[in-house]
Amino acid sequence: MEERVYRLVVMISGFGSNLQAILDACAEGRLPARVVLVVSNRKDAYGLVRAQRAGVPTLYFPFKPYRDRGLDRTAYDRDLAERIAPYHPDLIVLAGWMHILSSAFLDRFPGRVINLHPALPHMFPGMNAIQQAFEAYQRGQIEYSGCMVHIVTPEVDEGPVLAQAIVPIFPHDTLETFEERMHQTEHRLIIEGIIRALRTCLETPTDPAR
Ligand code: GAR
Repeated sequence: MEERVYRLVVMISGFGSNLQAILDACAEGRLPARVVLVVSNRKDAYGLVRAQRAGVPTLYFPFKPYRDRGLDRTAYDRDLAERIAPYHPDLIVLAGWMHILSSAFLDRFPGRVINLHPALPHMFPGMNAIQQAFEAYQRGQIEYSGCMVHIVTPEVDEGPVLAQAIVPIFPHDTLETFEERMHQTEHRLIIEGIIRALRTCLETPTDPAR
């Protein structure tokens, strides 16, 4: 990897513990990167506080005003991309971002949007993946779960996988203990996924539209 500091935009919707893992890795020199913007579609997302504490600019950009005006996701996604583009991100990291992004957004940053998902490839896409995995384990349908970082495509929680890890489930687990183990694994995996993305995606030439 060349000696440069990559520009990350991190998008969140909630607690932001994975954002914190990214901020810590940047501060400790484990990631050759800087978070230049944190975007949230929810005003009360605690991750916004984490960003402000780290001195990172934030953007709160909700979908509701679009829905209220009868506009669809495409209009929202296009405007969101327009607001992010001036920050010239090398990589956009969805870390608990709970809004499906369409091509109107993705085409603006081709191959440069990655997502963290708390399940293994092709297992439990969408919301509540941790709970779904835990319940499937209790029904005897799976023996373990995991998490992954992948390049975002218009299909929900699909796309080329950059990093994945198995997260075991034990008979004595509660949803809470399993969830805690999942998050600890994610905090490590998100850094691995970003490093892999910086090594691979960024070997492609920069999109002139940026
Ligand atoms: C994480 O478990 C992440 O994998 C999940 O949201 C959580 C965010 O936690 N994302 C998805 O489910 C995306 N489909 P955090 O706000 O503490 O980082």
